[in-house]
Amino acid sequence: MLDIYTLGEDVLRKKTAAVADIDQGIVDFTQAMIETMHEGNGIGLAAPQVGDLQRIFVVHIPQDKPRVFINPEIVATSIEESFYEEGCLSIPDVYSEIKRASGITVQAWNEKGRLFRLDADGLLARVVLHENDHLSGILFIDKLPQKKRERLVKSYQKNRSGISA
Ligand code: NI
Repeated sequence: MLDIYTLGEDVLRKKTAAVADIDQGIVDFTQAMIETMHEGNGIGLAAPQVGDLQRIFVVHIPQDKPRVFINPEIVATSIEESFYEEGCLSIPDVYSEIKRASGITVQAWNEKGRLFRLDADGLLARVVLHENDHLSGILFIDKLPQKKRERLVKSYQKNRSGISA
C-alpha cells in the first residue's frame, strides 16, 4: 500500500510530468494506486497524492470497473454545470459542494498502453475532473470562495491536531 499525502504537503501543489513509456513499472504503480484507493474507500486517486509527480490517476465509482488514466487530457466540457459534494483522500473528513461541468470528454492511455476517449457525465465526470485537477496541483477546496475555504481548512487543522495530540 502507498502512503497518502495530505493537505499541507508540498507534493500536492506541484505540477506533474507526462509518462514517457507505459512499462511494467507504471503498470505495477497503477495497480498499487487502485489498491490504495480501495483501502481508503476512495473513488479516485491521483499520483501526487501518493508522492509521485507523473500524469496518472485512477478512478473506481460504484457499478463500474476501476479505470486508469495516463497522460489524460480533458478535450471537451459541457456548458452545463452542476453542484456535487466532494471529498478527497488528501483532506480527510472535509466535504463541500463544488460546481463543475456536468459532462466531459477525456482522452488518456490506459494501463495496457491503449489510447482511449471517454464521454462521461454524472459521478464519473465529476471524479475525472477532480483527479485531473490534482495533476496541476489543484485541490477541490481551491474552488470555494476564500472565506469558506479558510473556515474549512481551519476546522480541518483543528481536528487533525486533536488526533495527533
Ligand atoms: Ni482528491
